[in-house]
Amino acid sequence: MTKKNASSRWDGTARFYDWLAFGAEKRWEPAKRALFGRMTPGKRILFAALGTGLDIPFFPPGQEMVAIDISAAMLARAAPRVAAYPGRIEARLMDITALEYPDGWFDQVFTSCTFCSVPDPMAGLASLRRVMKPGAELAMFEHTGSHYFPFNLLLNLCNPVCRHIGPEMNRDTVAHVIRAGFRVEAVNPVFLDVVKTIRAIKPI
Ligand SMILES: C[S@@+](CC[C@H](N)C(=O)[O-])C[C@H]1O[C@@H](n2cnc3c(N)ncnc32)[C@H](O)[C@@H]1O
Repeated sequence: MTKKNASSRWDGTARFYDWLAFGAEKRWEPAKRALFGRMTPGKRILFAALGTGLDIPFFPPGQEMVAIDISAAMLARAAPRVAAYPGRIEARLMDITALEYPDGWFDQVFTSCTFCSVPDPMAGLASLRRVMKPGAELAMFEHTGSHYFPFNLLLNLCNPVCRHIGPEMNRDTVAHVIRAGFRVEAVNPVFLDVVKTIRAIKPI
């Protein structure tokens, strides 16, 4: 998929994205608050990908961060949430696979339902690894495929439709993170083995 295709797919989804996510945000709130609570003042923080900014109310106040997304329409919808955040979010239109930052720039990287959506997850993870300092933390809230019947079957069946709107439903993101050269510190299930938080370190 080309960069243009990836952004226009999400540009098309932007107008009904919040409606699609309705309910899920309340459900995932405790896990997201716990994960984003790891944001540390004074650290260089990257948030990828911002979408319409549904994660922003779960950020601890007073943080400074860069938040990127490939879709201008998603970022336009995020703008009021960015403005309302009691801290500083620099929202930038950027492809996760072509980050405009030097090697070893960030101390912490956060993702949220990102690696279901980035067309080439290995390229996205390699790019994050490049801009992270040695020892920096990657903290992810992601949904993945399942190892268990019937969930694996259901996710495989709905994948062709879902990926047309936006996300892939059956990726093995934990395996991708390991393959990308990170050291996984913790995988915490949030719902079955599908929705989870992953914490990993870029080895020194
Ligand atoms: C499922 S949404 C998640 C948004 C938000 N974090 C949330 O949980 O509501 C996935 C987001 O990834 C963005 N995205 C997809 N491919 C990307 C890429 N290559 N670089 C940056 N963002 C990308 C999409 O534009 C979309 O906003």
